Amino acid sequence: MLPELVTPAPGPRSRALATELRAHESRNVTYVSPGFPVFWESAHGVNVWDVDSNRFLDLTSGFGVASLGYAPRSLVEGVREQVGLLYHAMGDVHPSAGKAALCRRLSQITFESWKLGPGKAILTNSGSEAVEAALKTAWLATRRRGVLAFTGGYHGLGYGALTVTGRTLFRDPFAAQLADFATFLPFPHCQHCPFGASGREPSACLPDCMNTFMRQAEILLGDGEIGAILVEPVQGRGGEIVPPDWFLPLLRSLANQFNAVLIFDEIYTGFHRTGRRFACDRWNVQPDLICLGKALTGGFPLAACVGRAGLMDDAWPESTGEALYTSTFLGNPLGCRMALESLALLEAEPWSQRAEALGDHLHQGLLKLQGASKRWGWTRGLGLMRGIEVLDANGAPDAARAGRLVEAMLARGIILLSGGVEQNVLSFTPPFVVTEAEIDFALEQLGQAEAYASSQ
Ligand SMILES: Cc1ncc(COP(=O)(O)O)c(C=O)c1O
Repeated sequence: MLPELVTPAPGPRSRALATELRAHESRNVTYVSPGFPVFWESAHGVNVWDVDSNRFLDLTSGFGVASLGYAPRSLVEGVREQVGLLYHAMGDVHPSAGKAALCRRLSQITFESWKLGPGKAILTNSGSEAVEAALKTAWLATRRRGVLAFTGGYHGLGYGALTVTGRTLFRDPFAAQLADFATFLPFPHCQHCPFGASGREPSACLPDCMNTFMRQAEILLGDGEIGAILVEPVQGRGGEIVPPDWFLPLLRSLANQFNAVLIFDEIYTGFHRTGRRFACDRWNVQPDLICLGKALTGGFPLAACVGRAGLMDDAWPESTGEALYTSTFLGNPLGCRMALESLALLEAEPWSQRAEALGDHLHQGLLKLQGASKRWGWTRGLGLMRGIEVLDANGAPDAARAGRLVEAMLARGIILLSGGVEQNVLSFTPPFVVTEAEIDFALEQLGQAEAYASSQ
């Protein structure tokens, strides 16, 4: 359903709550301004209602989590039943049956479906921890401490995940306490080529870029210190960046050549978001470890690191009673139930096809928008993971303007996020149940908001 604003957003109750929050929450957490945020009260499908009874169209899926929309019936019924039965167990000691079922299911949809034999999982409470479980696995398996990661990559903000996150914004305040096991290479980005061939669509990427990248990677991997390569197959928070077709196959062959563990962080891209079950399926390249989260549960803090069973068993010793990787809430029964219900829904319909088709529609709309004003830069992405750059009058990235557009859209009843390394990319990751009419409406509003901003 299209948005309906009962009071101008944010309304009086949201504003009062923002004041209260400002007083009692660390001020770095929730961004508060006269136009931000709204406080959510309920959600259904693509819609969110706030405490002032405004209805919004959520084009973010709540950070890419509610891929099937909010509150699908079987998920809600499953949660209700599970809450009545069991909502906490002893994750690594006496777990719930759901943990066994979920680990089996994760194996089936990853390594078994890729015909690579069984997979084994470590469940975690956040994506950041899933990445850290993958880093620990790679270290235990190879005893080589180095990790090759990528500029612009986002893997979470725990100290381990932050160490491999290629964003100075997040790293610099804590640099003095970060370990030094990560080395970063540029993430190939044809529209802003880090190898000097800027302004091309991916298909036109020069072989020179691949050779330059390969030479740099071979030098790094050749010194024998690096035991893992960690990458998002499509960068999400980095600005919806799709690498050229040579990239993932090359990483696979480099990992093979140098005996490194290849880790795909599909926390954002996983579960049909990019028009394939996993983004890596588009290039038919499989990792040794895959990190999953967000849409896995549709709304519970549970994520997973899944690896080839052989690798996992090489890395991790049998538990003798004290687990080396666990936490109080590991494998929470409610989270496992939500993941199982979500996976059943995610596998029940051709969501990839829908994400691909709607993604094309969205892309066409963004191209039209781009043609209407010089203040739009490149548009890019795959499936229902799309972005468009916001520029200043000189064609430079304009983060402030992107922020203003996000606020202007909220005032029009549309929830959007900005992202990208320069913070100037408007990002679109709507639930797969969004309609073409809703996409068209949102883009029309965005065009109007942009025209208004340009006239000021
Ligand atoms: C690719 C990727 N990896 C890891 C994370 C971290 O996940 P979490 O926020 O659940 O710790 C995110 C979060 O946005 C992500 O996009």
